[in-house]
Amino acid sequence: MKIAVLPGDGIGTEIVAQAARVLEALRGDGLKIELEYAHIGGAGYDAAGDPFPAATEKLALAADAVLLGAVGGYQYDTLPRPMRPEQGLLRIRKGLGLFANLRPALLYPELVNASTLRPEAVSGLDIMILRELTGDIYFGQPRGIRTLDNGEREGFDTMRYSESEIRRVAHVGFRIARKRNKKVCSVDKANVLDTSMFWREIVTGVGKEYPDIGLSHMYVDNAAMQLVRAPKQFDVILTGNIFGDILSDEASMLTGSIGMLPSASLDANNKGMYEPCHGSAPDIAGKDIANPLATILSVAMMMRYTFAREDIAQRIEDAVRKVLRQGLRTADIYEDGMRKVGCATMGDAVVKSL
Ligand code: IPM
Ligand code: MG
Repeated sequence: MKIAVLPGDGIGTEIVAQAARVLEALRGDGLKIELEYAHIGGAGYDAAGDPFPAATEKLALAADAVLLGAVGGYQYDTLPRPMRPEQGLLRIRKGLGLFANLRPALLYPELVNASTLRPEAVSGLDIMILRELTGDIYFGQPRGIRTLDNGEREGFDTMRYSESEIRRVAHVGFRIARKRNKKVCSVDKANVLDTSMFWREIVTGVGKEYPDIGLSHMYVDNAAMQLVRAPKQFDVILTGNIFGDILSDEASMLTGSIGMLPSASLDANNKGMYEPCHGSAPDIAGKDIANPLATILSVAMMMRYTFAREDIAQRIEDAVRKVLRQGLRTADIYEDGMRKVGCATMGDAVVKSL
């Protein structure tokens, strides 16, 4: 298992350090795990003048899987766009062909009171958001800021999806649903956007190949509302890049904290990049208070999807459940009566229970 480790910026280094300890513990048990480190994001810019340095690209291409922390920081906010940390993230996604982004929103029973929604609305929640990750308005050309003939300036981006892009992610969605509750809800804005009308047509066609899966369609505004009204109606949500970006942040809060949510970004051969759904949180960086569990749970997803080791994935997830049952909580999921711990102590506890 050759794993490229890209801690990135802010709390990225702290949370990845704890996830790396989990990998090292597994190596101690006899798994052949190789970790190689490289820079990305602001750290890439600082080290090599590029948020996605050539050396990082080479390492990531050669690895079986990538473990990523987070990118971004205040000091980079004024750089020209190509040098911004976020560009490093978008380029590695595109460069590795990671078109299928799996973002589970799973509520751990121990955290039912950490959600801003009533316990009965969210208890037992288990949604998989499948976000297309290498197309849509994120990458569509043309885009830019220009001056019109009348002298007025305008900004513009292009939303577009090709048939093959929609098809391949739809197949992933239906296959995931087969291993779950056999429901796919495709989210679009087909009442307004041509891109979405086309998306719906292609997803419907692919759905005919999966007669065992219930396919429904929902407009994105309604989906945003349903996620907070009755989130348990969803099983797999299949959607494009920009809608998935927004809905996955929303869904994360149903579970109490974005600090709990892992993600997997897969190519056509299950090579993947694994990262927490949250960002680099520069405001709390270096304080040892970040929650490392999303990153540790991302390692579990890596074992499940890239290395096909469901047994190890479950072992990691069980270890996390166990420390939650023991009452350990980082600040983001803390409630009265629990034991508040920092990032490193949380990592210790997971390694121990593993
Ligand atoms: C995410 C993030 C990224 C995105 C940013 C940091 C480029 O919000 O992974 O959801 O928009 O995809
Ligand atoms: Mg986002």
